[in-house]
Amino acid sequence: MQKLVITGEKKINGEISVHGAKNAALPLLAACVLTNGIVTMQNCPKLSDVYASCRILTCLGCKCQRFGDTVKIDTTGISKHEVPEDLMREMRSSIVFLGAILGRMGKCRLSFPGGCELGPRPIDMHISALKQMGAEIVEEHGLLDCSVGKGLHGAKIMLSFPSVGATENIMMAAVLAKGDTIIQNVAREPEITDLANFLNMCGARITGAGGSTICISGVKELHGCDYSVMPDRIVAATYLGAAAITGGEIRLNNARPSDLEAVLPVFEEMGCRIYSYSDNIYLSCHKPLKAVKTIRTMPYPGFPTDAQSILLAVLSKAHGTSVIVENIFENRYRQVDELVRMGCDIKTEGKVAVVEGVKKLYGANVISTDLRGGIALVLAALAAEGETVVENIKLIDRGYDKIETSLSQLGANIKRISM
Ligand code: EPZ
Repeated sequence: MQKLVITGEKKINGEISVHGAKNAALPLLAACVLTNGIVTMQNCPKLSDVYASCRILTCLGCKCQRFGDTVKIDTTGISKHEVPEDLMREMRSSIVFLGAILGRMGKCRLSFPGGCELGPRPIDMHISALKQMGAEIVEEHGLLDCSVGKGLHGAKIMLSFPSVGATENIMMAAVLAKGDTIIQNVAREPEITDLANFLNMCGARITGAGGSTICISGVKELHGCDYSVMPDRIVAATYLGAAAITGGEIRLNNARPSDLEAVLPVFEEMGCRIYSYSDNIYLSCHKPLKAVKTIRTMPYPGFPTDAQSILLAVLSKAHGTSVIVENIFENRYRQVDELVRMGCDIKTEGKVAVVEGVKKLYGANVISTDLRGGIALVLAALAAEGETVVENIKLIDRGYDKIETSLSQLGANIKRISM
């Protein structure tokens, strides 16, 4: 088992390039199933969830080869429509393969993704929308057996909640369907726009991505293309948090401030100075951090739930009382008990967390509870007096490529050990 050992109270200072976005790469890799050709995916992050997606593609009969940050996917040999249960269990978001396999193969068999560390992860919106497009879906013994009968057809779909995964699945089912699909109340995350841009480069006809209604006209076939994954906005927020909590300064290259319009003002409200340009962000924090009134997580363009855990740690060092309201996931405060072991003063009640800033954090032995909760522990450890050992770091590796190398490059005293 691997652990991270961090000796805190070292300022994070320096410059770093942000790797490709996990939450863009996963649907983009699934979307390759829809193309009959070769896709060259650049800036594809080296993350365990990305490797899991490539294993699913290989299992379907595609060829996946990685050359550094580029993955080459050849889907001309695709022959299967079933994703084995062990691969589905490896990664909850593998449900995003459903729409793509159904769209390309006309049938799909995969297991229910089940819940995850954040709580139940239902897929009712995915299922009901695909049924509206003509899919026949039988759910039994934890398996989804799907077929399209005479083929998927366009539909007018209203989402009850702007679900990211449901939006992605419907888009992928619609691009090869007969006729037009209109999806209303869609997710507006930048990763949705990245997926639409990729599919359009492969010959799809999608308009409206980034807004609340997406229109798709079905086409006969999609060809391959060369594409570059957008930068990871949550990893960018993480590095900004590392500089803020340690009173340092950082320059992020390959980071899009336009993806962080709800996040950057929070760092400024805390007293950080921020200069942002088209593809880089500079933050310095040479004054004690100040508490912020209230952060409410919302669907994009609101404050992202994935950055909530990061701010929970940073605000623990901010003078005053901050309030966070988590509106997206039921179970996104699981790392609070671990943060409290390090001296944080956080009280939670349902959706609400009240954070009292403290002068000092102390190193402790802590255990990651989920991907973003785990990185929150790392941020707290960077600012804590003494040594912190973080366990269960495979959860962190799902979303961060060699986090210890990146943070060491920025001045942290951090190493990965195997026990
Ligand atoms: C995506 O998850 C991201 N994952 C999550 O990032 C992110 O937190 C989330 O979007 C919200 O932005 C990937 O992109 C791989 P949702 P997803 O469908 O698609 C409910 C991370 O840390 N819901 O927008 O699963 C659901 O229970 C991860 O990188 C239904 O009720 O999120 C949740 O409460 C964590 N029925 C809410 O909607 C459905 O059919 C948002 O879920 C679908 C969703």
